[in-house]
Amino acid sequence: MKSTTTTFFLFNLLLLLLHISVSSSAPLLPKEALPTKSGYLPVNSATGSSIFYTFYEAQTPTSTPLDQTPLLIWLQGGPGCSSMTGNFLELGPWRVTVSHRQNVEHLGVEPNPGSWNRIFGLLFLDNPIGTGFSIASSGEEIPRDQISVAKHLFTAITGFLDSDPIFKNRPIYVTGESYAGKYVPAIGYYILKKNLHLATSKRVNLQGVAIGNGLTDPITQVATHAVNAYYSGFINEKQKSEMEKAQLEAIKLVKMGNWSEATDARNRVLDMMQNMTGLATLYDFSKRVPYPTRLVTKLLRIDEVKRALGANESIVFDDCSDVVGDALHADVMKSVKYMVEFLVKNSKVLLYQGHFDLRDGVVSTEAWMKTMKWEGIEKFLMAERKVWHVNGVLAGYVQKWASLSHAIVLGAGHFVPTDQSLNSQAMIEDWVLDKGLFSNEGEETLPSKFRGPV
Ligand SMILES: *[C@@H]1O[C@H](CO)[C@@H](O)[C@H](O)[C@H]1NC(C)=O
Ligand SMILES: *[C@@H]1O[C@H](CO)[C@@H](O)[C@H](O)[C@H]1NC(C)=O
Ligand SMILES: *[C@@H]1O[C@H](CO)[C@@H](O)[C@H](O)[C@H]1NC(C)=O
Repeated sequence: MKSTTTTFFLFNLLLLLLHISVSSSAPLLPKEALPTKSGYLPVNSATGSSIFYTFYEAQTPTSTPLDQTPLLIWLQGGPGCSSMTGNFLELGPWRVTVSHRQNVEHLGVEPNPGSWNRIFGLLFLDNPIGTGFSIASSGEEIPRDQISVAKHLFTAITGFLDSDPIFKNRPIYVTGESYAGKYVPAIGYYILKKNLHLATSKRVNLQGVAIGNGLTDPITQVATHAVNAYYSGFINEKQKSEMEKAQLEAIKLVKMGNWSEATDARNRVLDMMQNMTGLATLYDFSKRVPYPTRLVTKLLRIDEVKRALGANESIVFDDCSDVVGDALHADVMKSVKYMVEFLVKNSKVLLYQGHFDLRDGVVSTEAWMKTMKWEGIEKFLMAERKVWHVNGVLAGYVQKWASLSHAIVLGAGHFVPTDQSLNSQAMIEDWVLDKGLFSNEGEETLPSKFRGPV
């Protein structure tokens, strides 16, 4: 009896030790969580500057072979924030998780059922160079304007498309969030202009662009914070006047072309709103704590994770780079609205916002949309804003006419896919495939004179 108990005890001890050794050696990113491919796309072979990427092929492609399956490209904002935040906290197939054992924080990853690669390929780019795991050989090479951003992105994207015949000719949609409200139009515009001078076989098959909670036409958008906060009940009339005064200062500096000072003035408006409202984050007025981006930073500072992703191990990952932020400081208040106007004439455009965002929200976007120079804008503004359901449940609102769509996502802040992963997935899939509220059915077609030459 005694000996069987001892044996039993020893056996259990052995199992326990085995369990400990197995769990401590289990990879943080299991094999099934690894990107289909990842690494570096050179933007300048002479200097070695390159853009880091992770690519996830579609889980259930919309076509076999893959040549008709759309490819989405994701760009984070900032300026200077890494698309790995999008990858591991928002729309990627695996998201960072945290658990506590004996007061120690343990990181892991879990599948994201709302991933944007359910039926499309999904490419994350750390843009511009100097951001995330991307490499800037020198500070001078970091872009200071959107044309330079677009040139680097174009080299990286064509490098990626040329890396495997499986990517050739697939329909491409460039998407992004926040300050990518500048990058997305910039690369979209650059591609369409470049295509005009390229042989058909060399063209990039851009079909559309999507921007979430974007900064695109700052002079219009900076003027909306006070009324937005006031009519949402966060500030009183006196505070509204104070904010309006600060907004006018930013607008004045933009008009004078004092770009760097204009960015500082906008930051003062946002600081003022932060101080007045006392919110945990202006990115989502419903939140009691900010978005947990620090978990992404912690995960991507682990050597094993860097190795698994093919990232340069000597880089200490930051979710946002101050060096890149400084390089683009004077770019912040410059408008790229004219690029969106070109894109809406020659491809299709989706603008979507999480409803809880006080920085780059619904009102801020609608303010500049209605000033767009596009022959279809009157029709768009008269189009019905439809109630949008996903699986029978209210998800938000969609307004669409011809090539322009606007979606409001309820229950979400600045990081729409983080807060409403399944609804964000339904939105992007329907928009890309012209389905549901994004279908063209019953819509009069746009007279050909409204469309450009591309
Ligand atoms: C605007 O820029 C000019 C030239 O850089 C500078 O002299 C002037 O002080 C600036 N004005 C303000 C209000 O910052
Ligand atoms: C906001 O509050 C901080 C801390 O009290 C203060 O330093 C800062 O000047 C305030 N900013 C504005 C624009 O009021
Ligand atoms: C990794 O990054 C460092 C610092 O940016 C750079 O000096 C080094 O050449 C890079 N290594 C590789 C293999 O690219």
